[in-house]
Amino acid sequence: MSIVLILFAFFIGSLPFGLYIAKTFRNIDPRKDGSCNTGATNVARLCGTRYGIAVLVLDVLKGAIPVIMANIWGAGWILLSIIMLGAVLGHVYSPFLNWKGGKAVATTIGVFLAASFWPALFAVAACAAVIALSGYVSLGSLTFAVCLPLFSLLSGNIHLLPVATILMVLMFWRHRENIQRLARGEEKPWRTKKSNQD
Ligand code: G3P
Repeated sequence: MSIVLILFAFFIGSLPFGLYIAKTFRNIDPRKDGSCNTGATNVARLCGTRYGIAVLVLDVLKGAIPVIMANIWGAGWILLSIIMLGAVLGHVYSPFLNWKGGKAVATTIGVFLAASFWPALFAVAACAAVIALSGYVSLGSLTFAVCLPLFSLLSGNIHLLPVATILMVLMFWRHRENIQRLARGEEKPWRTKKSNQD
């Protein structure tokens, strides 16, 4: 059963909702414009805010669902951590996108909200505050990445510290181009003319 749950987590994590929604409703390929990412931010940037929100919700859900299933099944922390990693790695290295994918944030939010609600919620709140203040989703995402292991530690969820730390490193790695753009002052804010019209 463990292997079934891990494979299911990877499979559901690999479903590229950003591409499906942008293609289906706007006939836009988010891999070819904006930041070329299939995540909610780029879909919001290219297609409009409501489409970005839809992608965000679906990407969070695809992280949360396998973790909820694992909890119902009574998985221990090690198996749960592997399932969490499986869902996020599916999102980042999707077989439906030639082993490419997103930047790991929304699916990590999903797996952590399901595994450890309050630390994850506070990390999301810190992320939202930074986005609201700076206008840069990537800066908020990096804040979320740092807060995840920090808040897991502070809340006593030591068993989740390894997976939180691995996911923090993965999110920083996936945001390496954003980090360079932020340093050069060339990062695109999430609010564009297109999304403002929405
Ligand atoms: O979660 C992705 C976000 O942090 C950055 O997205 O499209 O601006 O690279 P994007």
